[in-house]
Amino acid sequence: LFAAPSDFLKGVVAMDGLPPADRIELCFAGRSNVGKSSLINALTGRKGLARASNTPGRTQEINFFTIGEAHYLVDLPGYGYANAPLKVVEKWQRLLRQYLSGRQSLRRAFVLIDARHGIKAVDEEIMTLLDSAAVTFQAVLTKTDKVKGKDREKVLAQVREKLSAHPAAYPEIVLTSSEKGDGIATLRAIIAELE
Ligand code: GTP
Ligand code: MG
Repeated sequence: LFAAPSDFLKGVVAMDGLPPADRIELCFAGRSNVGKSSLINALTGRKGLARASNTPGRTQEINFFTIGEAHYLVDLPGYGYANAPLKVVEKWQRLLRQYLSGRQSLRRAFVLIDARHGIKAVDEEIMTLLDSAAVTFQAVLTKTDKVKGKDREKVLAQVREKLSAHPAAYPEIVLTSSEKGDGIATLRAIIAELE
């Protein structure tokens, strides 16, 4: 699948702007700055495809990327970000929730978790929403290049334990580093298998 060309399709600011639900759709959700856009760039092998930046709140629209003829990858605005005007944040957060609970063609949500921090209360809220909407989700640890050994094991244990309480959670956790490329081939294979 990832040998096929990838491209930016559009940025969406309201539900009525969503493209037709006629492709296999995977989305990347997670706290602000967790590495969603960087992961899409790593997966597609195109560095500047999704805009990544050290400024939290970089992605403010729902960005659709095509891979080949049959798939969308969706880069979502981050959640849990407090440093933007409240009205603006409320707008993306509402859209994010509407999208996650109401998108028919969404096959799986990848919920990204910073390997240094583990699952936080805001992640739990999103996971609970995905449970309610019966959207299968899979946890992806990001920035694993920043934690090693026992610290990493501790976070993994926390994530495993928290996931076990969520009926929509897929049990396998994917460990990734967009920086080093770790886990990228694994995640590509998981995505390519979804129909
Ligand atoms: P928002 O759009 O603001 O929600 O952020 P995002 O989740 O899209 O994060 P983004 O991809 O923009 O990355 C945030 C910062 O983390 C950037 O400075 C990235 O370079 C850095 N980053 C992302 N992935 C990794 C990784 O695997 N390792 C390391 N060390 N840094 C990373
Ligand atoms: Mg982003």
